[in-house]
Amino acid sequence: MFKERCLEGRTAIVTGGGTGLGLSMALKFADLGANLVIASRSLEHVESAAERVRERGAKAIAVACDVRKFEEVEAMMDRAEEDLGSVDILVNNAAGNFLCPTEDLTPNAFATVIGIVLQGSFHCTLAAGRKMIASGKGGTMLNILTSYAWTGSGFVVPSAAAKAGVLAMTRSLAVEWAKYKIRVNGIAPGPFPTEGAWAALLPTPEMAEAAKNKIPLKRFGEHEELANLAVYLVSDYSGYITGDTVTIDGGEWLAGAGEFNQLAMADPAAVKPLIAAMRSGQKKGG
Ligand code: COA
Repeated sequence: MFKERCLEGRTAIVTGGGTGLGLSMALKFADLGANLVIASRSLEHVESAAERVRERGAKAIAVACDVRKFEEVEAMMDRAEEDLGSVDILVNNAAGNFLCPTEDLTPNAFATVIGIVLQGSFHCTLAAGRKMIASGKGGTMLNILTSYAWTGSGFVVPSAAAKAGVLAMTRSLAVEWAKYKIRVNGIAPGPFPTEGAWAALLPTPEMAEAAKNKIPLKRFGEHEELANLAVYLVSDYSGYITGDTVTIDGGEWLAGAGEFNQLAMADPAAVKPLIAAMRSGQKKGG
């Protein structure tokens, strides 16, 4: 769907790129000509991911980086520039999340998720943004959000608060840094099977099945679908889009939002007679 080598000559930094959706995006970018910096707290994950990128003919460096530590983030951006020539694309994908009743959270649990998601995204944005501004060439930033950044969600309050903050940052910097030719966009994914998110959020087959049934398209997302959207948003194809966040969730969040949407998810053979009976029973003339 994209022109071959449409990311040629660009360096992309993908945080949390050693596994899951981060890795899928990194591999797709590599297929289209980008060089990669793959960052994660665990060097073991990123080294094998970087090797997979190299097998596709792209340059890749693996960096152990805790996005909560600004000095580690700055060192990673310096390495990207020194080893690969520039910093052109940043994907803020690293995340931390778990289900927990809010009254059982400790202040440190809240601070940990905020530290990874909100402060970590800011650290990477600041360090990469400074490089993009200094180069005079600008670049693109992509923040991986979630649809509950808008709606909020019980049991994941630290993550919801952090992602809402990143959404605000996305919109704020789209305006402030447009003059430096930096575009900032987001993707709000619904459920995509990954080892990390599944273990943290949908640990049993019953929970996964219930989650699938809440999705109007009745399936989870495929990594390829999200990776294609990411390429679109970081490449020149989306040159006039900034400050926006695209939801990719099979209709999940809208289905949950509408008061009567559960009727759309039920068997029409059961719903239609029910609604017809309501109509025949309704009083005329109010
Ligand atoms: N429920 C409630 N509190 C939890 C928790 C859980 N499931 N897991 C960790 N915490 C609390 C800890 O108790 C600790 O607080 P305390 O010191 O007051 O006891 C705090 O969170 C930090 O935990 P710790 O394990 O030391 O942090 P960490 O930096 O090693 O790990 C996490 C960070 C907790 C987010 C970890 O799950 C992680 O690294 N996840 C990355 C992958 C991921 O989350 N993927 C899913 C993305 S959707």
